[in-house]
Amino acid sequence: MAAAASVGYAVQHLIDPEICIRCNTCEATCPVKAITHDSRNYVVDFNTCNFCNACIAPCPTGAIDNWRQVAKTTPFSLDEQFSWDSLPPQSDLEVGSDAEVPAEVRQLTEIATAGQGGAVAPPWSAAHPYVNLYSVDRPAIATVTGNFRLTDDGASADVRHIVLDFGSSAFPVLEGQSVGVLPPGLDPNGKPHHVRLYSVASPRDGERPRYNNIALTIKRVTQDHQGSPASGAGSNYMCDLKIGDAVKVVGPYGTSYLMPNHPGSSIMMICTGTGSAPMRAMTERRRRRAALKEGGELMLFFGARRKEELPYFGPLMKLPREFIDINLAFSRETDQPKTYVQDLIRARGKDVARLLRDESCYIYLCGLKGMETGVLEAFRDVCRDHGLDWDRLKPELHAKSRLHIETY
Ligand code: A2P
Repeated sequence: MAAAASVGYAVQHLIDPEICIRCNTCEATCPVKAITHDSRNYVVDFNTCNFCNACIAPCPTGAIDNWRQVAKTTPFSLDEQFSWDSLPPQSDLEVGSDAEVPAEVRQLTEIATAGQGGAVAPPWSAAHPYVNLYSVDRPAIATVTGNFRLTDDGASADVRHIVLDFGSSAFPVLEGQSVGVLPPGLDPNGKPHHVRLYSVASPRDGERPRYNNIALTIKRVTQDHQGSPASGAGSNYMCDLKIGDAVKVVGPYGTSYLMPNHPGSSIMMICTGTGSAPMRAMTERRRRRAALKEGGELMLFFGARRKEELPYFGPLMKLPREFIDINLAFSRETDQPKTYVQDLIRARGKDVARLLRDESCYIYLCGLKGMETGVLEAFRDVCRDHGLDWDRLKPELHAKSRLHIETY
């Protein structure tokens, strides 16, 4: 890109290929179809993006939240962006006086600097998260100390609980945050694999309390979204790890999907499959503090095909009912009607409505994209049946950081 003269600047919205996990959320969210992708990168069309910021909050890694000042006449083309392995440095264009820079450009530059572009705020009492401590250029090296299959031997899914120890490297994480893993080797294009993102399944004080370790919940990918055979480079690498193997880890990521910490705060958790990882982390955090009797409720809706396919089924069922209200939705048990989490939300409408009303209750969704619509529709029905107005409540939940959604 050529350097510009002293006038005619714009801010260009870009996606960081180093952090992007290619989850397609931004492309699916963009209302003006400014985002596209090839087999490697997600890119933003300068001429189409209208800075509506709709894509910013849903991005799980923050890769979407990147901005560069460019000359209006020579923005980065789509082809240039497709070829990148990392973002170009911020240019040293001569910006001139404020009067020469349009207000929206100044504002976006400030957003870019703050790195918070429109993301949903965390609950007011969430702890301070650390992010981006380790990058692709300088990853943390973790050692595998555990790799256990969570699903029954007969289950169709191979879901694993993988424990990584960071030794003497500080790697602080909070429940709800994610880490990136760099699979070794090259992709079919001969380039290094991009970062794979996984939610942390352990609480902030470690999978084993006071050990410098974390746990991840990872499903071996053997099919693509259409059901055709496919081998996920990241998940197969992780699921095949042996004790003692070294893994390159980047992050941590995530500043909004965090749990409340104030006494009396309640948590409603709704998940399917490996979307259970953040729910396990939050539940375990609360379990370790249960003796403090800080109050607040835990209500869980968890969907899986069959009980044998439900990660953490055994340990979950051992938790006392007065500690957590567990609602399991099985869709493929032979002796039960097909049930989804949203069916159970309707069935438990009275308690769900009570928690929706409770200003101290925070709601977390994680799992299949299809579940999101179903769950939000169930909330609407529950509201209608219990004297609440979902169209008024939903924006309030957002404004008060009480609704957090991570679907894929
Ligand atoms: P299904 O039997 O219809 O696939 P998976 O095992 O693929 O990770 O899915 C976890 C659970 O989520 C399964 O029980 C699956 O049911 C269920 N599920 C699939 N689609 C939806 C949806 N739109 N809403 C809620 N649950 C869903």
